[in-house]
Amino acid sequence: MLAGVRRTPVYYYSSSSGLVATFAERLERPAFNLAEREHRLSEVDGPWVLLTPSYKTGNDANDTIPEAVRRFLRSERNRRALVGVMGSGNRNFGRYYQKAAREIAQRSGRPILFEFELAGTPWDVEECRRILDELDEGLARRTG
Ligand SMILES: Cc1cc2nc3c(=O)[nH]c(=O)nc-3n(C[C@H](O)[C@H](O)[C@H](O)COP(=O)(O)O)c2cc1C
Repeated sequence: MLAGVRRTPVYYYSSSSGLVATFAERLERPAFNLAEREHRLSEVDGPWVLLTPSYKTGNDANDTIPEAVRRFLRSERNRRALVGVMGSGNRNFGRYYQKAAREIAQRSGRPILFEFELAGTPWDVEECRRILDELDEGLARRTG
């Protein structure tokens, strides 16, 4: 990590089972839970990364994007500053695996930076830290 480089914050949604929160809190960078109203209704102050689980609802659309994530992305400022998407899922969901993260990435044109299952393994945490550190440095070079 370079000194003085901004640590890109991660905004995540985690339900009461808390798997995504467990992962996000291990990333050693600012992480905000969109399940909390204060964060869900806020606007970002610069580039940020989304971390979302997928939740298949069983309705006709088989929508998997958590409502809190949808709400946060309603802000144009937040949509514009999004730089990448990460997902937590469960392979048991077959073709719906990581559907929420993949759909948001596709619609926004932002890359999927990392995907993992449930709360992730220690390796996942390490790998994700490395990817985000690289992203920080890339963004610092871009903005000078
Ligand atoms: C009701 C339900 C529906 C789910 N649907 C999907 C799904 O469509 N695709 C997927 O990859 N994972 C799915 N999962 C797995 C969750 O995304 C995964 O367990 C995630 O880590 C949950 O994070 P959280 O505990 O922070 O809410 C589902 C889990 C539950 C309980």
